[in-house]
Amino acid sequence: MSARIETAVGLDVGRIREDFPALRQTVHGHPLVYLDNAATSQKPRAVLDAIMRFYERDCANVHRGVHQLSERSTAAYEGARETVRQFLNAAAPAEIVYTRGATESINLVAQTYGRANLRAGDEIVVSGLEHHSNIVPWQMLAAEKGAILRVAPIDDRGEIVPEEYRKMLGPRTRIVALAQVSNALGTINPVREMIAQAHAAGAVALIDGAQAAPHMPVDVQDLDCDFYAFSGHKAFGPTGIGVLFGKASLLDAMPPWQGGGDMIRSVTFEKTTFNDPPYKFEAGTPHIAGAIGLGAAIDYVTTIGLDRVAAWEHELLVYGTEALERVPGLRLIGTARRKAAVLSFVLEGVHPHDIATILDGQGIAIRAGHHCAQPIMERFGLTATSRASLAFYNTYREIDALVEGLGKVREIFE
Ligand code: ALA
Repeated sequence: MSARIETAVGLDVGRIREDFPALRQTVHGHPLVYLDNAATSQKPRAVLDAIMRFYERDCANVHRGVHQLSERSTAAYEGARETVRQFLNAAAPAEIVYTRGATESINLVAQTYGRANLRAGDEIVVSGLEHHSNIVPWQMLAAEKGAILRVAPIDDRGEIVPEEYRKMLGPRTRIVALAQVSNALGTINPVREMIAQAHAAGAVALIDGAQAAPHMPVDVQDLDCDFYAFSGHKAFGPTGIGVLFGKASLLDAMPPWQGGGDMIRSVTFEKTTFNDPPYKFEAGTPHIAGAIGLGAAIDYVTTIGLDRVAAWEHELLVYGTEALERVPGLRLIGTARRKAAVLSFVLEGVHPHDIATILDGQGIAIRAGHHCAQPIMERFGLTATSRASLAFYNTYREIDALVEGLGKVREIFE
């Protein structure tokens, strides 16, 4: 197996797996086969060590102390911001705002840029591929402002229909918010072109990169997006930390969101003045350990190389697609021509939750349900699918285990 892996894209997946303690366990007496990476990813030892080091040696608040520990924690926290800047190729660290995750990043833009700039009758464009995090904040904003949410439809493969998207854009479009990769179907959207079209209509473009940033190289300057959101926990980092990239000119002009310490320059009872970005958007003691862990995760994945990660996951996707297509009664949902390694499917006569439960009994972790993307399920006339979502530490052997597991599911339901 590993010879084949190494000749594929130069990755020694066997060695990489040794860096992930959680992958070395058995579940219900079987070796764990973890195929739920779109929900959250496992963490390499380097991330766990960085978090432990912070709490064991450097634990102090940031930007608030002159003592040694505070200087160390501030340096590590700001160092991680520079790591994120390089990861996204943002122009400056001030364009990198720490948040709780992609969801909070999108809410921040809706509640600051959106509330300041939208008027009644203005339009927000999303696509039919969005998960709830990139729908509900815009619905809430639209309801408050009397704005209109427009949805670019998808076709039977799970691709946004380009001419329908273009038709959505008009003189009232203020914000376009699109997933770079669909969590439920794996579709990779041509966001660079779609951003240019949004700009031509005079709108700003936010890209939800929750499912993209951990799996492919991202360059926000090349994309020319105005905002980019992703979560640490899907990118091999801790939960509770995420990132909002925003172009400096936009972040400068946006009002703050949450008020509190660190986001201010001076406070009196009469008047408060605000700090510069990114601190203007980071009220209160931040998730310092989370930011440091995220920095370690990015260092780890960057050392492997996002281009090699993408290439290996594509190999797995091709192998997995062919293998699943051979399973009798199985239908893949989401067959876009450009796809990330997400395999959503239904199996005739078996509820997705039963599939996930039976597979769990064999140590295989997948997700079943609506994947926080109910409108996509509705588009395909379904309430749920089963979903295997892959990462660079997965192997052909694990896909074989999934297929064997589905054979057992079929035996039980025959
Ligand atoms: N949005 C995450 C998923 O796709 C939670 O599973």
